Amino acid sequence: MPETTVQAFKNGPFIIKGPIKVLDVDGNEYDVSDQKAIALCRCGQSENRPFCDGKHNRIGFNSEETVES
Ligand code: FES
Repeated sequence: MPETTVQAFKNGPFIIKGPIKVLDVDGNEYDVSDQKAIALCRCGQSENRPFCDGKHNRIGFNSEETVES
């Protein structure tokens, strides 16, 4: 079975690769079947939420969380 990964990008979105379903608050599914990877907005400013539209670059979103050990 293919693995799904979710990776936070520095000052940017979450990039999800692998099999995934993205549902809205009512449980309706976004059609992402033709995409090998998707970017989910992490800055909250996208005009195409839940997907990233690149606005994080224009607003200077700053986030560099890393795994704490
Ligand atoms: S993370 Fe890209 S628009 Fe929000």
